[in-house]
Amino acid sequence: MKKIVILISGRGSNLRSILQAQLLKAWEVDIAQVITNRPQAHGIEIAKEFGVPVTILDHQAYYSRQEFDAQLLKKTQSFKPDLVVLAGFMRILSPEFVHFFQHRLINIHPSLLPSFPGLNTHAAAITAGVKWHGATVHFVTQEMDLGPIIAQGAVPVFSNDTEATLEQRVLQIEHSIYPQAIEWFIQGRLHIEQGNVRVDPAQQQFFQLPITP
Ligand code: GRF
Repeated sequence: MKKIVILISGRGSNLRSILQAQLLKAWEVDIAQVITNRPQAHGIEIAKEFGVPVTILDHQAYYSRQEFDAQLLKKTQSFKPDLVVLAGFMRILSPEFVHFFQHRLINIHPSLLPSFPGLNTHAAAITAGVKWHGATVHFVTQEMDLGPIIAQGAVPVFSNDTEATLEQRVLQIEHSIYPQAIEWFIQGRLHIEQGNVRVDPAQQQFFQLPITP
């Protein structure tokens, strides 16, 4: 059975959507551990609700970034995961971590990459006046927010949107594309060819919310 470790830092709404999908769709997978760098992360309660053990590695308790990074790598390796899922993990991973888990480390980013990498993507989308926004699930590579794209979900942007309303709409699509991408991974259906991800057998890799303001 494949093993998954999920890294979080905060709210944990994506974590919940993944744990719910595991139950609903009876994935034959062991979500072995949730690891968080924040002792107060709300996602810890969600993990407990679903009976998933949690490891807290408080980055503030380490003398240096290097020390924390080394511990995070060691801890994550100790569970021997087939897949590491970043679900709102707000620390930049070390090059060693990314290298070690190459092709089995995925992230969700709240924009249609390559538009709006980095933070505050919803505000950036509103400022840019884009009419579509969304989220991207991708493999993690050494360049931040640039890895091979597994799935994208688009949502409309309305003229009266605020950062908060847009974030809520994007989260809805995040909660369907992330479990979908993980399911493909578990099924061994993801292939990276020339830097692009193909699902085999072929399946639509783009999703969209119904247009209802
Ligand atoms: C989401 O917007 C996700 O795209 C980004 O961080 C946020 C995490 O939210 N990477 P949550 O903790 O899953 O609710």
